[in-house]
Amino acid sequence: MTDLVVRRLLVDMEQPIARHWCAGDAFRTALFNALSMSFPVGEQFFIDSVRNGFKALPADRQEQFQAEVQGFVGQEATHRRLHALYNGHLDKLGLVNDWAPRAQKRLKKMEGLDARHWLGITAANEHFTAIFADFMLHNADLLGDQDERLKTLWLWHSAEESEHKSTAFDLYQALGGSHAWRVKWMRTVTAFFLVDTLRQTVNNLHRDGTLWKWSTWKSGWGYLFGKRGLVTLTYKPWKEYFRRDFHPNQQDSTASVRWLQEHGDKFVPVGQAVPA
Ligand SMILES: [Fe+2]
Ligand SMILES: [Fe+2]
Repeated sequence: MTDLVVRRLLVDMEQPIARHWCAGDAFRTALFNALSMSFPVGEQFFIDSVRNGFKALPADRQEQFQAEVQGFVGQEATHRRLHALYNGHLDKLGLVNDWAPRAQKRLKKMEGLDARHWLGITAANEHFTAIFADFMLHNADLLGDQDERLKTLWLWHSAEESEHKSTAFDLYQALGGSHAWRVKWMRTVTAFFLVDTLRQTVNNLHRDGTLWKWSTWKSGWGYLFGKRGLVTLTYKPWKEYFRRDFHPNQQDSTASVRWLQEHGDKFVPVGQAVPA
């Protein structure tokens, strides 16, 4: 079991966001903004999946998961709330979130399905989030220094995603979810995730007026496929998920532990007073 601390982040999300807050880079800004747009709907689905999965457990196993489920829900609910504020600023910049309504419509089809399907989807998404989070923590410089507040938000979110990466997976296993369905959902989630991310990133660039600039795609190519690229470095850990004996804890999360240790001034564990 994982001890999950819910933390209140000490950042002011009321202040507006600059058009190219991420190192002045149009592509990276559009990509991160796209991901942020997906979080309030996505994370609510993860919360619901984990809650439903917990309820479906026999009473004697619920006790084992209780604290972790509570921590998971608390962490995701906090992410949701801050990303909703973040997304409010994106609306003001003229960006339009097409991803959230599309995802909402798709997730409606899940109503009435077995809790294991919800968890299969959530575990696949959480694997994506965890490997992306680890990449972010190892390449924090790529977030730039122009907006310390957003840099902190992304790294705190990454650290917590890494922390709770096993919760949905363990519940799926505890409910007897099969390997065949686990990898089937990963294939489906991967296809939707990549297409949705690309569509919303292009949409953001289009509204930003930077879609047809050579510099946008030159930077995008480097960020995704360069030596230190997102796709280059996350392909191998992504593929691990298809192994029959895979468990999220087999993947390194020391970057998350380190970030949380070194940035204790950036958050307050819920239930504790803000330091003077
Ligand atoms: Fe999250
Ligand atoms: Fe998560």
